Amino acid sequence: MTSFRQAIHRLTGISLPATKTALIEQRLRRRVNHHGMSCTGTYLDEVMAGRLGQAEIDTVVDLITTNTTSFFRERAHFDHIAAEIVPEFLADRSRPARLKCWSAASSEGAEAYSLAMVLAELQRTGRRFDWAILGTDLSAPMIEKARRAVYSTEQVSPIEPSLRRRYLMISADPALRDQVRIVPELRRRVRFRQMNLMDARYPVDQDVDIIFLRNVLIYFEMQDRQDVVRRLQSHLRPGGYLIVGHSEGMSVTQSGLQRIRPTIFRKL
Ligand SMILES: C[S@@+](CC[C@H](N)C(=O)[O-])C[C@H]1O[C@@H](n2cnc3c(N)ncnc32)[C@H](O)[C@@H]1O
Repeated sequence: MTSFRQAIHRLTGISLPATKTALIEQRLRRRVNHHGMSCTGTYLDEVMAGRLGQAEIDTVVDLITTNTTSFFRERAHFDHIAAEIVPEFLADRSRPARLKCWSAASSEGAEAYSLAMVLAELQRTGRRFDWAILGTDLSAPMIEKARRAVYSTEQVSPIEPSLRRRYLMISADPALRDQVRIVPELRRRVRFRQMNLMDARYPVDQDVDIIFLRNVLIYFEMQDRQDVVRRLQSHLRPGGYLIVGHSEGMSVTQSGLQRIRPTIFRKL
């Protein structure tokens, strides 16, 4: 199992403690049975040797990663963007006309679309401005889900009713009444792409205004956290913001980032 844990670390940056072995076995059991194998160790050797193909490696990564997310998770971040960051952006005429945002571990897209709703509302009710959001994640199935932008009615329950009415579509088909889809007006401005935060370089613009990096650093070891934050910092324009999860603020110690709130940092 040790070599498997090392392989997962190399692939994802995720640090799996030995105590998680039982959990891993449980998550992988269906794949082991699917391939007619008798034990997880044999299955993992085959996966890591690449003998079951890239798709199987992606499946394992997907089963190991935690994709939990929700709309308007840590709502204070969205409130801060609406009350402070966007007005500051609009007041500064020297900045480019488009507000660029990046959800850097986007999972199935709830974070990116929550932000899209906030920006669309500000645009609708105040001064017009252009904006775009990029969502990236290691997991190919999560990226596919994010692009489809279809969610259960339960998933969208944290969205306030006025935003639900404006930005969610309900199918005319009664069989699909428990699902909704994000309206095209928002989907057009939100793009998703598979990307590994452990890569040495990110194929993303270097003048991003707001980067969300929430609830993913917690799975990384300290050195990897530092490296990921340093790389993301180089994609922020001076004055741009990095926003991390509520338990991740202490992992951000880079000198070029000024702490504005416990989990909100501004590039100097
Ligand atoms: C717990 S979710 C957080 C989603 C969202 N940011 C939020 O706060 O609700 C963590 C996400 O990080 C992704 N992830 C894990 N390791 C990654 C890596 N090395 N590169 C990119 N994404 C990664 C997982 O696939 C998962 O979707």
